[in-house]
Amino acid sequence: MNVKKGRGEKHLHKDLCEVIADEARLSEISNRLSSEINNDYKDKNLLVVGILKGSIMFLSDLYRRIDTDNCRLEFMAASSYGSGTVSSGTVRITKDIAADLSDKHVLIVEDILDTGNTLFYIKEQLLSRDALSVRICTLFDKPCRRTKPITPDYVGITVDDLFIVGYGLDFDERYRNLPYVGVLKPEIYS
Ligand code: IMP
Ligand code: MG
Repeated sequence: MNVKKGRGEKHLHKDLCEVIADEARLSEISNRLSSEINNDYKDKNLLVVGILKGSIMFLSDLYRRIDTDNCRLEFMAASSYGSGTVSSGTVRITKDIAADLSDKHVLIVEDILDTGNTLFYIKEQLLSRDALSVRICTLFDKPCRRTKPITPDYVGITVDDLFIVGYGLDFDERYRNLPYVGVLKPEIYS
């Protein structure tokens, strides 16, 4: 894994052991992914669906860089985790969208794709509502943890089996406010 030193590291939170992405790197990722998205969706009716709450910071940076003519924003929320670091496997949609999808290309924006349980379920739901297409943009991808057959279309950084927090990503609802992403010390969650 490529770990860069940056502004975040000077004030590294005491519960973290290493920075995975500092603010500069996070900004580069939004630049890169938004230019791919702008190219792929330039003539399309696009609906960006942010998955609450983990995606908020990434979504905010990415969405303001999307410059296609026909672009809308909605949010969904789902839960498959309790307060631990392991998915319970059962997905529940806790906030849904009402939009008619039959004339829209949906782009799901997520913080991290782990087992794939959450997005596998959400993607199936959106496809069953006749969306023209459903793609996934995730800031982090942990392919080594995948249990469902799902591959993201746009990926910021591929990571190993580590628990990371910051920039929207949480452990037990904490650390979302950090402006960088780092590895949580195992003693915090074990
Ligand atoms: P999945 O359903 O197992 O793919 O889990 C996806 C959700 O689990 C993400 O949206 C996160 O909320 C949470 N998650 C998985 N891995 C991490 C991590 O390393 N840090 C913080 N949250 C994580
Ligand atoms: Mg979470």
